[in-house]
Amino acid sequence: MSQGSVQELAVLAANSVKKAMILTIASGKGGVGKTNIAANLSICLAAAGKRVAILDADFGLANLDIVLGINSKYNLSHFIKGVKKLDEISQPVCEGVDVYCGFSGVEHLAHITDFTRERIVAALDTLAENYDIVVVDTAAGIGKTVLAFCMASDHTILVGTPDPAAITDVYTLLKAMTINKYKGRSSLLVNMAQDINQGKKIYRQIASAAAQFLDVTLNMAGVMLRDDYVVTSVRKREPVVLAYPKSPTAKSLMGVAARISRVPLSASADEGFFKKVVNWFF
Ligand SMILES: Nc1ncnc2c1ncn2[C@@H]1O[C@H](COP(=O)(O)OP(=O)(O)OP(=O)(O)O)[C@@H](O)[C@H]1O
Ligand SMILES: [Mg+2]
Repeated sequence: MSQGSVQELAVLAANSVKKAMILTIASGKGGVGKTNIAANLSICLAAAGKRVAILDADFGLANLDIVLGINSKYNLSHFIKGVKKLDEISQPVCEGVDVYCGFSGVEHLAHITDFTRERIVAALDTLAENYDIVVVDTAAGIGKTVLAFCMASDHTILVGTPDPAAITDVYTLLKAMTINKYKGRSSLLVNMAQDINQGKKIYRQIASAAAQFLDVTLNMAGVMLRDDYVVTSVRKREPVVLAYPKSPTAKSLMGVAARISRVPLSASADEGFFKKVVNWFF
């Protein structure tokens, strides 16, 4: 290869900024396991060779740090205020995973200033450029902020449980995404199932309603059983996949991670993720 073409390739490589796949975990209903799934799935994705950032986008009750057993002195609020740079608030979770801790009590993001908005845009764009996958943990409910992160994702994992309210809320969120012309991939992860068959039945129930009434394909991310190891590990403030790698939950999440990491990256790489989120916020 000539010196000229090597240089051309180097320029091409430098100009083609690789964008991460944005994977948002959402549910509508609270307490269904989103934060645990975001934390543990991220670790499984790193085990599958991906560089992963986890962003705590639950601005109502940020608690990823607790599930991960991390004491975060600095969080996204310090970055937004300009007190810290983005890399200064990142905390290593394990090899291949960094967490960007959130802050609580700011549900009304619509009231944030232009300055704050620009800081958030800069943060997400930087994350998308520096990792393979950015996992976003969202708040309960189907408010504007949750919907914004779903709409900006390449892949949204909707977490449901056998609770009828959780099933309805997943469907309502998927409907809201569809009405707003969501372009990414959607999958259902059934958590706290009694057995695999119950989980599959719930999947078929929601997926057939989505196909019939919304004309949307809802993929199957997997089934996770109700598992006491999850409860114990939350109490210990240790991610279950690290504390109990042989638990049913760890096995299920490794399966989900394997499926996800084969999905082609960035369905919408042409637009910056955060730009898309911001379009949705305001
Ligand atoms: N597979 C499981 N088996 C048993 N318990 C579980 C399982 N998954 C989650 N839990 C329990 O549910 C609790 C809530 O989980 P988590 O905080 O991850 O939910 P969440 O959806 O993020 O809640 P919120 O909507 O409040 O953010 C956990 O503390 C844990 O005790
Ligand atoms: Mg949560």
